[in-house]
Amino acid sequence: MKASLLIKNVRQLLTLSSNIKGPRIGKQMEDLGIIENGAVAVKGEKIIAVGKTEEVLAKIKIDKNSKVINAKGKVLSPGFVDPHTHPVFARTREEEFELRIRGKSYKEIAQAGGGIKSSVRELRKRTEEELIELTLPRLDNFLSYGTTTIEAKSGYGLSLEDEIKTLKVIKRLNKLHPIDLIPTFLGAHEVPDEYRDKKYKYIDLIVNKMIPEVVRRKLAVFCDVFCEEGVFDLKESEKILKAAKKFGLKPRIHAEQLSSFGGAELAGKVKAISADHLEQVSDRGIEAMKKSKVIAILLPGATFGLGLKKYAPARKMIESGLPLALATDFNPGSSMTESMPMILSLACVMMRMTPAEAICASTINSAYAVDRGKDSGSLEVGKKADIILWDVRNYKEIPYHYGMNLVCKVIKDGKVVR
Ligand code: NIG
Ligand code: FE
Repeated sequence: MKASLLIKNVRQLLTLSSNIKGPRIGKQMEDLGIIENGAVAVKGEKIIAVGKTEEVLAKIKIDKNSKVINAKGKVLSPGFVDPHTHPVFARTREEEFELRIRGKSYKEIAQAGGGIKSSVRELRKRTEEELIELTLPRLDNFLSYGTTTIEAKSGYGLSLEDEIKTLKVIKRLNKLHPIDLIPTFLGAHEVPDEYRDKKYKYIDLIVNKMIPEVVRRKLAVFCDVFCEEGVFDLKESEKILKAAKKFGLKPRIHAEQLSSFGGAELAGKVKAISADHLEQVSDRGIEAMKKSKVIAILLPGATFGLGLKKYAPARKMIESGLPLALATDFNPGSSMTESMPMILSLACVMMRMTPAEAICASTINSAYAVDRGKDSGSLEVGKKADIILWDVRNYKEIPYHYGMNLVCKVIKDGKVVR
């Protein structure tokens, strides 16, 4: 077998491989499947061999066209899968950041016309081309911090036209940029101003027009709802997610972020692939999620970005056997970062996840959280060659040495892209 790319002499090769065919739970989250002095061989876009360097060298052939990377003393891991992002927006909102520092809350800013609605006003003014130009450098940022796949939500359009426009931008970016973007329809991110006093009509529009049109044009895989006090309540969220399911979109929910609202129970009820945020989750919510195998996606960047004190109870969720994933929640309002290493540091320090648990939650578990567990999230034969070479000697340095970019090289679909 001839390799197009060989990475050899890796000090710690984090394969994340195991016999478990699904997201890891409990103690399994600490098993990174580490091979010392390891190697990975790639042919085209796929991994063809993984093991000790001498084993891999015995199995494969290289010639003058093969690229060989000597990773002596370094760490190698799967590329990050970021399972919750809002990357397509027109304008950043740093003035709200300062208002919060000066004492205003996220809700107060939203009620005064800022927040999601200000992003909606700005996005509506932009063309597809402009939004592509604005989003491309953000994708470069994701990639330079080791992220090779993101879930990407719409949700700043909130009209049929502007939601379709956003999802088309996501589709075009997926072709234009090495990063894989997995599209989520989030028409239920907020109630737009023109429907302020007739929310039921906006929900009708989502259910009867937007979802069918998004599906007809094959523009989304998932459907998300911001289930929160003052946004979409439990009944409304259920109605939207059930309609989405009927059309073949898989449900996921922004749940229990600002109030304990029952979104986690709803995630269990509709058998959502994930419930995200969960800062205020109850014991009943955890049980309901566990029963329906819902993955908990934790977003400590949003808690940090909003300056809130209460992080999601990660330890409790791990101990109760829920699979955990981590995401940036990259968005201009609450979490302005494309950096998964930053999220790992927050997960370790603020939620007491171990470095190994945090890496598991941002690779194999987050791949399952976007339904890509079969082809991403671990370094195994047959999977995509999405790989990070780290300038560290021990994987624990990744969350420990915070605020730095420790990524040495990024390989996406078998090609060195950074
Ligand atoms: O996940 N909670 C809803 N959506 C985002 C915030 C979006 C915004 O403020 O623009 C979140 O935190
Ligand atoms: Fe979000």
